[in-house]
Formats: sequence, C-alpha cells, structure tokens
Amino acid sequence: MSEPTHPLVPQPCTLVIFGGSGDLARRKLIPAVYNLLLDGILPPNYAILGNGRTPLSDADFRQTAREAIAKYSRQKISEKVWPDFERRLFFVAGSLQDPKAYKALRQRLEQIETDLKLPGNRIFYLAIPPTSIADAVEGLRSAGLVQPPSSEGPFSRVIVEKPIGRDLDSARKINEAVSRVFDESQIFRIDHYLGKETVQNLLVLRFANSIFEPIWNYKFIDHVQITVAEAEGVGTRATYYEEAGALRDMVQNHILQLLCLVAMEPPHSLDADVVRNARMEVLRCLRLITGKDVEKYTVRAQYGPGKVKGADVPGYRREPGVKPDSTIETYVAIKLFVENWRWSGVPWYLRTGKGLAKRASEIAVFFKPIPQILFNANPEAPLDPNILVMKIQPEEGLTLRIICKVPGTKAKTNPVELHFLYGEAFAVPSPEAYERLLLDVMAGDASLFMRRDAVEASWAWITGILEGWDTFGTKWLPEYPVGSWGPVEANRLIESDGRAWRTL
Ligand SMILES: NC(=O)c1ccc[n+]([C@@H]2O[C@H](COP(=O)([O-])OP(=O)(O)OC[C@H]3O[C@@H](n4cnc5c(N)ncnc54)[C@H](OP(=O)(O)O)[C@@H]3O)[C@@H](O)[C@H]2O)c1
Repeated sequence: MSEPTHPLVPQPCTLVIFGGSGDLARRKLIPAVYNLLLDGILPPNYAILGNGRTPLSDADFRQTAREAIAKYSRQKISEKVWPDFERRLFFVAGSLQDPKAYKALRQRLEQIETDLKLPGNRIFYLAIPPTSIADAVEGLRSAGLVQPPSSEGPFSRVIVEKPIGRDLDSARKINEAVSRVFDESQIFRIDHYLGKETVQNLLVLRFANSIFEPIWNYKFIDHVQITVAEAEGVGTRATYYEEAGALRDMVQNHILQLLCLVAMEPPHSLDADVVRNARMEVLRCLRLITGKDVEKYTVRAQYGPGKVKGADVPGYRREPGVKPDSTIETYVAIKLFVENWRWSGVPWYLRTGKGLAKRASEIAVFFKPIPQILFNANPEAPLDPNILVMKIQPEEGLTLRIICKVPGTKAKTNPVELHFLYGEAFAVPSPEAYERLLLDVMAGDASLFMRRDAVEASWAWITGILEGWDTFGTKWLPEYPVGSWGPVEANRLIESDGRAWRTL
C-alpha cells in the first residue's frame, strides 16, 4: 500500500463545539471524534468543550454523548476506552449573544487546558444557526480567545458549517464577519461531501491511473450526469428548507464541488491551495445561466402526494411547517457547460431532489459512441456507450460499463458492469466524512475545505439562476409524485438532446 507523501499530523487540541447541545453535534461530531479515538488516530491529548443555551452539566453532556454514540456511531461503545474519553468531555452553558458567556467559556477552557496539560490549540466548531455566526466570532475575539496565525504558538482555527448564506450578498456578509476575526488560513468551511471516500478517490482515480486522464476531455466524453437523489421528504427541516430549496441546499455546495473535482485540471501538487486553485478555476469557467435562459437550462419542481411502499404520502405543501402556497423547489435539474478547452461543448446534467424513488448519489461519465462499423454497424440498434460511474451513496465505489460478447456461436454483444465497492475491496470500513474532516482541521490541512473565493464564486453562479427564476419562473411549479424520479420536464431537458437520465 502506498502512503501519501505528507501524512497528516493532527495536533493535541481542544474542540469547542458551539451548538454542542444540537443535532449535528450529537449525530456527527461527537461520534466522529470517538471513532477517530477507537481507530487510534486522534492526537493522544484532546478535549471537547460543548456550548449551548441548554443548562447542561458536564455529567449531562457526557450522558448525551454516550447516547449519541450508541445511536449514531459506526463503532460500538468500548467500555475499555469510554472512561478516558468521557473525562475529556465538558459543557459550559451560555448564549452566543451574551458577552459574559465568552468569559465563562474562556475560564473553563483555560482550566481544562491546565488540568489536561493541553498546549492551547483551539478549534471552534460553529454548529449553530448562520444568524449567530457573527456574534460567535465577535464574542471569541472580544474575550481574547483567538490567536493570530503563527508557526510557533498554539493555533486557533474555526470551522464554519453550511449554509454559508442564501445568496451572494448574505454569503459575503458571513465571510466578512468571520474574516474580521480569523485569517483565511484559520478558516475551515465544511462541505461534508468533500470528506467522503469516493469523492477523495476522484483525484486518485484521475491522477494515479494512466488510463483515464488521456480520455478525460471533450474528444472522448459525450456528457456527464451528476445525481444527488434523496428518498426522504423534508421531514423536520421545513423551517430551513422553506428558506433554501434544492438549488441552494444541494447544488450551490455539494454538486458544484463534485463537478469541480471531475472537471479540474491536474494540480501540480497536493498542497491545499494548489488543489483549491484548480477547483476554483472550474467555477470561473461555468457558463452563466441568467434571465430567460433559466427556462431553457433549468427545471424546478415540487413533490406532490403519492404512494411510497403502498402508503399514502403527502405532497410538500402538506408537510408540517411548509406554507400551503410554497413555491420552494424540492427538485432541480440543470444543463450547464464548463467553458474551457478540455470541456468544450460537453453538456453536464445535474439533478437533485427530495421525495425521489431512492437515495442515491453518483457521478456518471458517458463516453462517446464508437464508429458505426463492426459491432456497431446497425444504426437501428446502436451499442450502449461506455459509462464510468462513481457511486457516492449509499454505497461508495465505481462501476465501469463495457460491451462484451455473449457466450455462444453468434457475435452477439451485451453491456456488462465491472464493479468495485469500497466495502468489499478493503477489509477496513470507510470512515465517516466528518471523521476525516475533523482530523484534517487538527492537522491544519485545508485541501478538503471551501475557500472564501470558491464559496462566493458558486453563489454568484447560483444567484444568476435564482434571479432568473424570480423574473421568469412560473408561480406554480410542476409537481412530481413523491417516490418517482422527478418531473417529466426534467426528462425533456435531457431527452431533447437525444440523451436520457441514467436509471438508478
Ligand atoms: N444537523 C445536520 O445534520 C446538519 C448538517 C449540515 C449542516 N448543519 C448546520 O449546522 C448548524 C447546526 O445544525 P443543527 O442541526 O445541530 O441545529 P440544532 O439541532 O437546532 O442545534 C443548534 C445548536 O445551536 C445552539 N444555539 C442556537 N442558538 C444559540 C444561541 N443564541 N446561543 C447559544 N447557542 C445557540 C443550540 O443550543 P441550545 O438549543 O442549547 O440553545 C444548539 O446546540 C446549522 O447551521 C445547520 O444548518 C447541520
């Protein structure tokens, strides 16, 4: 097995979780740290200090953490390891709007660092509503909790969760608030898709194999499809979703980042900024979709009532917390172009939605058809194209569709699929995205995080579509039955080009 040239060295630190009493902390963050510990890759010395308004004691927080790990962790509670983990968990209650809360936080933090002999390295995780981000960073600055970047002293880093804004203006405001307190080198903007194994494997696939890169361009690739499908409806997230919709929730961050990894030029090193420059360059090349073009290049829709596994399921506008006349899209499909030499004329089709037939995310690269001779001589029955599929969830792996001869005396052919699944190929289970990302922050590696310019460039592109929809969008969105594969309009978007969505 080959090792990276710069192995990560996570440093001893305290992880301060603002929103320590919240859902993200329970479901993802605390289990992630625990799994890193069980895997033996957490720094030997560490602590977690949670914060929230709920008046939890350390004992309450430890109990909540244990329950969360029992429920959400990929590895079970180990009674051998638990006592040492538990004694490193602390909670300090207080409101982000209350200056006294930061003084209490500072005292608690210093006490923990003294007691556990921690070197003063601090990671502030903002797992809080975006409206409180400015208060949180300003509170940290006023309380003297943020050290400037330096190669010698202890570090201060901040992790910012999505959503970073709901359009370009609001994203800029959040970025400016964080940048007033932290240097860009200290800011880690999470897009948890970048922490997934398959997503990281995209770079390895493209740049550690000799067979893909020569054909990774407009000469050989017909088109690319990116699908992020969710079977679930809006669930308990209606308040957030009514302000967001599918374009903001999924395309602005996750899908555009996937696109960047598929489309980017080879970086000259794995240095964080070199990789991020290469991703950023793709965002600069996206053809804008503005004004009336939204009608031609985008489809938005909402899930209506339907049946799932025989049971009646309500449509989006009947979900708890959703306005009965809501025009928020739960589905979006987009056709776009990356206007550079490599991708000249290659369409990219993106689709994402809630209430779809199943949960599945993948990137499918369709190669051009072979000449119409030999096995492809019959124009009435053209051969299926080769497709390379990178599966992101629920399974992580790769599929390559090739054409094979059917056994027998006739020269009959059939498409077959070569499969590689992480779960089967390697004896070790894949870590959760948050595990990898937290470890990277402890090590100071920002490659898998969003830089400010990328966040704002993707919002600038998305805002063009949002404004087009405001001006030219129809008031009532097309509906698709919950549990289906989306609206007929999305089929027309791709079928009018003589192509079809992949059946997942
Ligand atoms: N949950 C997820 O899977 C997920 C995924 C991606 C991104 N995110 C993002 O992560 C952030 C947190 O999400 P969540 O699902 O954990 O939300 P949540 O369950 O509502 O938790 C919010 C947390 O923020 C704290 N909080 C809110 N206002 C506060 C204030 N004024 N002062 C002090 N603490 C305050 C809450 O503490 P108290 O209730 O104790 O006051 C709670 O711990 C959001 O920005 C969300 O969009 C979440």
